[in-house]
Amino acid sequence: MHAWRGHSFGPPEVLRWEEVPDPELGDGQARIQVKAAAVNFPDVLYTAGTYQVKPTPPFVPGAEIAGVVIESRAAELPVGARVASTLDGSGGYATHAVSFPFNTYRLPDAMSFEDAAAMTITYQTGWFALHRRARIQPGEWLLVHAGAGGVGSAAIQLGKAAGAKVIATCGGEKKVQVCTSLGADHVIDYTKEDFVKVVKGLTQGHGADVVFDPVGGDVFDKSTKCIAFEGRILVIGFTSGRFPEARANHVLVKNYGVLGLHWGMYNLVDHDAIVAAQRELYRLYGEGKIKPLVSERVPMREAPAAMARVASRGSVGKVVLLPDAAA
Ligand SMILES: NC(=O)c1ccc[n+]([C@@H]2O[C@H](COP(=O)([O-])OP(=O)(O)OC[C@H]3O[C@@H](n4cnc5c(N)ncnc54)[C@H](OP(=O)(O)O)[C@@H]3O)[C@@H](O)[C@H]2O)c1
Repeated sequence: MHAWRGHSFGPPEVLRWEEVPDPELGDGQARIQVKAAAVNFPDVLYTAGTYQVKPTPPFVPGAEIAGVVIESRAAELPVGARVASTLDGSGGYATHAVSFPFNTYRLPDAMSFEDAAAMTITYQTGWFALHRRARIQPGEWLLVHAGAGGVGSAAIQLGKAAGAKVIATCGGEKKVQVCTSLGADHVIDYTKEDFVKVVKGLTQGHGADVVFDPVGGDVFDKSTKCIAFEGRILVIGFTSGRFPEARANHVLVKNYGVLGLHWGMYNLVDHDAIVAAQRELYRLYGEGKIKPLVSERVPMREAPAAMARVASRGSVGKVVLLPDAAA
């Protein structure tokens, strides 16, 4: 098999496409032929050595794939099954990957590999953030930052599916069009307008009931200025590069909550909830209420360049890597 391997940490260009031995198949594991792999921002952090999980080189990034089981020692994953998997958070930028049933899902017949590869991490993150953590209600105002990005685009669609009124922010005209096409009710280009002022205006002074924030930094700080009474700010990520700090006196006086979300932890603490969420996401997909925006289909051989685009705000929705012959 072949895989993108990092022998040291750094930007995506440190990765090398190499022939590597097939990993041994352990009891309860299945070998998957990778048909599509998603590029997620965390893959970039993982390669840089700045993610919460730091691998020992050589490592193979790639936290999310879809493919076909070609060899199995797991009764739940027979040979020929079409599956999506989050692996163990890595190993997907390869021709083949090894997985457990634990983090592997059988696909609905009508779902393409590229949609499947683009759906698990971003939509599970959006689902747990909005429903489990924020307990969003129909009719509430949801403010989604970086709405044209991976997790942001999923949050817009899931917010609409939950009956929320969705305001999205993003940087630039092209991304405004993307957020609109995803179903956002209002879109703010935060390179041109002050989103605090616009949110206050749109909500007639009420503010956003729920804020979905994958950006952090100034975006988080400003969100505390337009959060509603009993609002919830969801801390999803820090693409801005700065970890913001919540001011406890402000949280008290304005009566809002700051809620962290570490989706991967639910694999350890409440796996049944992950399985239930995946079932619900596949149902919504089947009903046409959600569909990942796969904006680029890139040959696996071009993975580092694709990762660099995602890291530098150069992508929208999801970038998916396909086996070279299929791309
Ligand atoms: N909490 C969890 O469990 C969980 C799960 C998955 C992902 N995440 C996190 O969610 C964040 C987003 O991931 P993603 O895969 O959706 O990434 P993505 O598709 O690249 O979207 C990130 C967006 O952030 C915005 N951004 C603002 N400042 C930026 C900067 N300085 N550099 C780069 N982007 C910047 C950009 O949108 P604009 O140009 O519109 O500003 C960019 O498109 C990451 O921090 C990731 O680690 C968290």
